[in-house]
Amino acid sequence: MRIGSLKFNSNLFLSPLAGYTNLPFRLVVREIGGVGLCTTDLVNARSLLEKREKAFKLIETCPADSPLAVQLFGSVPEEMRDAAQILENLGAASIDINMGCPVKKVVKIGGGSAMMTELDKTAALVRKMVDAVKIPVTAKMRLGWDDENLTAPDLARALENAGAAAIFVHGRTREQGFGGTVNLAGIRKVVEAVKNIPVIGNGDVITPQAAKKMFDETGCAGVSIGRGAFYNPWIFQHTLQFLACGELLPEPAFSERVRVMNRHLDLMIEVFGEELGCRMFRKVAPWYAKRFGPCHEFNKRVVQISTREEFLGVLENYFRWRQQFVDEHGELLPRFRPPPMVASFMRETEPASTRREQIPVPKGPMEIW
Ligand SMILES: Cc1cc2nc3c(=O)[nH]c(=O)nc-3n(C[C@H](O)[C@H](O)[C@H](O)COP(=O)(O)O)c2cc1C
Repeated sequence: MRIGSLKFNSNLFLSPLAGYTNLPFRLVVREIGGVGLCTTDLVNARSLLEKREKAFKLIETCPADSPLAVQLFGSVPEEMRDAAQILENLGAASIDINMGCPVKKVVKIGGGSAMMTELDKTAALVRKMVDAVKIPVTAKMRLGWDDENLTAPDLARALENAGAAAIFVHGRTREQGFGGTVNLAGIRKVVEAVKNIPVIGNGDVITPQAAKKMFDETGCAGVSIGRGAFYNPWIFQHTLQFLACGELLPEPAFSERVRVMNRHLDLMIEVFGEELGCRMFRKVAPWYAKRFGPCHEFNKRVVQISTREEFLGVLENYFRWRQQFVDEHGELLPRFRPPPMVASFMRETEPASTRREQIPVPKGPMEIW
């Protein structure tokens, strides 16, 4: 898999999730393995130019966090160009431009999904960035503003002509938010619209089977995974295995989930300090817990932690409480096991008994994405 001059061992990517895809989470995913390129949360180009501490914290990285794409948002071509140059000098592998974000704060300034409505202007902005740096410039978009304006194929073609090295496309419109089904036929149209650059499909991939279906039905060159990685940081490794030989690795055991969750907290503390790291972890830990089986006792307490010691106390208490739901080998009794995960676009092919209505959207600084 290639994006411009970059070569990857895996065609699976970590999608940007503002408030979540920080350095600790990226390292967790990379340590488990199977991911090709990770992307930062979106970063305001102007904030980088103004050297704001918050923007630089968002792009904090280390040698193990490589290759790394930084996602920029903004609509002023000169600012985007200058921010791209700063990032190139700092060693970013590539720069991704946010064209999908539906949040008012971003759209109001002509960034995010507003860019999908102005093809020529957006292509000119991309051209300016591409001409200013040697590293690849990519774009991440939705299918369009709404069902009447599915502009992604035209936009992708225009951006390829402007020098974009790849297109990431979330198979929903801006109007859809996170509701309804990911439109694989819509992603396919984007794949068919470009000539030579890879298109990476995105949306609701929460199982290896869903990734395969997205590859098969859209012809995309790669798949990018966001919330699925939050539920399950093993998804990249398991999907690579499934794509290579059709083998579905078993879900990680409870002990392995707890090991990785502990590692995640250690990294949060290393990067953000103990108090802030623990406070931020309050919204992360419940995602791990979604696959623990009964977990309200854990969730209730973990949202109060401020130190590692408090976290360990919460865990110890939870281990005791969880005993009532397991058999003599420590396995969850069948009636307490969480149902299998099923992507929105897999529903017709799954038995009704295993269907989920929607993957939850994590709360964050952005209310809707
Ligand atoms: C909490 C949250 C934050 C997000 N932040 C970003 C972002 O910073 N930039 C971006 O392009 N997309 C962002 N997205 C969209 C995701 O990258 C992705 O396109 C979307 O969640 C669908 O993929 P998924 O089902 O694999 O999560 C965000 C989504 C969520 C739920």
